[in-house]
Amino acid sequence: MVPVIRHEGDSDEAYAHNRAFWDEVTPVHAASDYYRVDEFRRGAPVLHDFVVEEVGDVSGLTLLHLQCHFGLDTLNWARLGARVTGVDISGVSIDRARKLASELDIPATFVRANVLDIDRQLDGQFDRVFTSFGALCWIGDLEAWGRVIARVLKPGGVFYISEFHPLMDTLQQARPINENSDAYPEYPYFGGGVPLRFDPQGDDSDYAEPSFTSEETTFEWFHPVSEVIEALIGAGLALERFREYPFATYRARRGMVQGDDGLWRLPPNVVALPLMYSIRAIKLPA
Ligand SMILES: C[S@@+](CC[C@H](N)C(=O)[O-])C[C@H]1O[C@@H](n2cnc3c(N)ncnc32)[C@H](O)[C@@H]1O
Repeated sequence: MVPVIRHEGDSDEAYAHNRAFWDEVTPVHAASDYYRVDEFRRGAPVLHDFVVEEVGDVSGLTLLHLQCHFGLDTLNWARLGARVTGVDISGVSIDRARKLASELDIPATFVRANVLDIDRQLDGQFDRVFTSFGALCWIGDLEAWGRVIARVLKPGGVFYISEFHPLMDTLQQARPINENSDAYPEYPYFGGGVPLRFDPQGDDSDYAEPSFTSEETTFEWFHPVSEVIEALIGAGLALERFREYPFATYRARRGMVQGDDGLWRLPPNVVALPLMYSIRAIKLPA
């Protein structure tokens, strides 16, 4: 069992560690089967169909991708006709994204920044703001995050997120509290703004490259879905769509089964639980 350590300290320390972790893991991800970079080089799409369908037609639109990693999804949006900008905290990710864009001759702008600080580095507003899959656990202050999104969206612009469901995270560690008890989750659903600290364990498994073990400590926040929705509404956005899904984009639990659509589901003899969700929200014209 991974010890559950609450980090009551400085958020800057947490972001510095997380940045070092993402710098370390980016080359591993870029070489992994999960990210399918070579297929993308040959022209194949990497965005999941349900994401493309929910975001809708982006041709001719400006699109800002928050937490773009090394730019693969960002460049896929560009191939679908968007004029793209990607932001990520990891300098290694941003360097890779720029190199991939130049190698494939896809116009794109990439900016290294903490999402919560992009006001200092990014002018202008966008038609679409996109973020996905494993983004929010790295953001400490969702109210500030909502305000950033409202600031960078044009009036009438659309924000879209598809994200792992926090219920799935709680299932990672469930154990009986005494000998007569059922198993209860140890990871929080209501994170209360305090991140958990994860020190290297030696047997951690990376979502994209299971053979990789990081040397870095990370800090991750647990946000209930209600907090995400409240952050967007609080920043002045109106919800257009909220969906929950019984699948994940990677093998999040042992025993999960991959479908022809590439998505992973709990085994057939287990009740379906929400493993992912998506939100589409609009910044209403003034
Ligand atoms: C799970 S990954 C990327 C998710 C993306 N959908 C993908 O699959 O490529 C999370 C990304 O968030 C970035 N990140 C973490 N904390 C961040 C922050 N506070 N601001 C900006 N980027 C951050 C990391 O560098 C990493 O590239």
